[in-house]
Amino acid sequence: MKRALTILGSLVGLVLLAGAGFVAYVQIAYTVDYPRTPLPAITARTDAATIARGEYLVHAVAHCSTCHGPADLMTQRQLDFRQPLVGGFTWELGPLGLFGSFTARNLTPHATGIGAMSDGQLARVIRHGVDSRGKLSPMMRIAVGPMSDEDLTAIISWLRAQAPVEARRPSYELGFLGKVAALDFRPRLDPPPAHVPEGELGVARGKYLAEGPAACVGCHTPADPIAGFARSGPLFSGEAEAEVDPTNTTQEIIAPNLTPDPETGHLAGWTEDVFVARFRAGRVIKGSKMPWEGFALMTENDLRSLYRYLQTVPPARRQVGRTVRPR
Ligand code: HEC
Ligand code: HEC
Repeated sequence: MKRALTILGSLVGLVLLAGAGFVAYVQIAYTVDYPRTPLPAITARTDAATIARGEYLVHAVAHCSTCHGPADLMTQRQLDFRQPLVGGFTWELGPLGLFGSFTARNLTPHATGIGAMSDGQLARVIRHGVDSRGKLSPMMRIAVGPMSDEDLTAIISWLRAQAPVEARRPSYELGFLGKVAALDFRPRLDPPPAHVPEGELGVARGKYLAEGPAACVGCHTPADPIAGFARSGPLFSGEAEAEVDPTNTTQEIIAPNLTPDPETGHLAGWTEDVFVARFRAGRVIKGSKMPWEGFALMTENDLRSLYRYLQTVPPARRQVGRTVRPR
């Protein structure tokens, strides 16, 4: 008996030591410093056509305003798109906020916003996910999809054309799980996708939007947050795990499988017109993280293109269950 207790004691001791070692390792080994990430050669323009294209991207397709809008409107998830993008909404991510705390930045051209940032610095955080300090911006790296030089130019041109508003926002703070994730998490350095212009109707435009600026692929494909958000399952086969509904903690929400699998695909039986009408209806599930307010403003051609592209994705048999359900 005494001997068994001694062995148990040493085992517990070993586990504690290994745990402490892991904590120390993460604290020392994680990094968010990527100052040598190149600044894309993008220059803002001042012509009305480019600025108008930027407005469509910021509010609708790339849905920047659904994160950078005024914090009080964000909480209600009722966005008035004519409000200045002053930021201020804070996300406490992960169980007990252990991934960290992230506050949306002021995107108006005031010195407390993007006023002091160069076009290259703006382009770098949008394209590569590296901020003006040369540090990884995890939220930007995950939430914003890859986009063409043309679209990046249009977004920056629109931002530069807005009225400045003073509003200083804090930088993020990583929690312990955020540091574990940072061990494997890098800026995105892939070459940018080729531009497929608005007005084009078809699979190529849909693919560009879904894998690019609209970032559908990010939420609707399984990914492992601890392995640097690496893809962990078939393209568009649904989110890895359900997340607690922030507006009603007795239920959870999961992004469905959008592949054309006849049994487990969420869109089985949806016609193109049903798909377009669903987007026009906007938010149905209050606590959903999908930026329905922005997507509801997409042009009919873009919505039809998205539907046509999703029909061409390889069908993946993956049952994620009902999108909203009790926990
Ligand atoms: C899911 C929410 C989300 C979306 C969508 C989003 N952002 Fe951000 N963004 C953030 C957060 C949070 C921060 C602050 C992160 C930090 O502290 O590093 C940020 C930071 C920034 C910064 C400041 C970088 C710096 O160097 O200080 C810029 C510029 C920016 N975002 C632009 C955009 C643009 C343009 C879009 C649309 C293409 C966009 N964001 C979409 C959440 C978002
Ligand atoms: C920030 C994460 C996120 C992004 C980006 C996102 N989705 Fe979703 N999507 C979800 C979640 C979560 C749900 C389930 C809750 C709901 O229906 O709102 C969902 C549901 C859906 C549904 C089912 C709606 C219903 O009524 O049953 C469709 C269709 C869909 N998404 C398509 C898309 C397309 C197309 C894009 C890109 C244009 C996209 N999603 C981008 C998270 C996201």
